[in-house]
Amino acid sequence: MIYELPPLPYGINDLAPVISQETIEYHYGKHEQTYIDNLNKLIEGTPFADKPLEEIIKEADGALFNNASQAWNHIFYFFTFSPNGKKSPQGKLAEAINKKWGNFENFQKEFEQAGTTLFGSGWVWLSKDKDGNLVISKENNAGTPLTKGLTPLLTFDVWEHAYYIDYRNRRAEQLHNLWKIVDWSVVESRYL
Ligand SMILES: [Fe+2]
Repeated sequence: MIYELPPLPYGINDLAPVISQETIEYHYGKHEQTYIDNLNKLIEGTPFADKPLEEIIKEADGALFNNASQAWNHIFYFFTFSPNGKKSPQGKLAEAINKKWGNFENFQKEFEQAGTTLFGSGWVWLSKDKDGNLVISKENNAGTPLTKGLTPLLTFDVWEHAYYIDYRNRRAEQLHNLWKIVDWSVVESRYL
């Protein structure tokens, strides 16, 4: 199987000013393309060549895990956004958030705080466990809740390459602004 960079479901300038066209060009067009190219090189001629990406992530380690997981994480991240998506969760997901954090604003605050305090490169995640309970977690580098038996629902990328063009060193500011472009209908569709 040859993996390809999927076209984004919005225009390259549609998320500006939260995420600029230049950041999309570099972060998705170059960084993500490189992870996908590396993934393709590393699986070629190996038993991983015909496995779904999620299985590669769960079974591989080293460079293959890193590139496979980064390929998956970035698609999951960029496909959460929309210039005119649903601005807050409803239904079952909203109930689960309220049960755990009291209200949506408290959840947002804790999620941002987790991303801001993650040391170095990584990802902050909202996931659900087998019983449908929600959990916020920090993962270093290419880390993913997929390897911990959790179902990912939402992630913010806190690698410097995600925010340095638009926000320089102001990671917390980008994390705060990302709420403006999260499409909660996408996150709800992952909470089944
Ligand atoms: Fe990234």
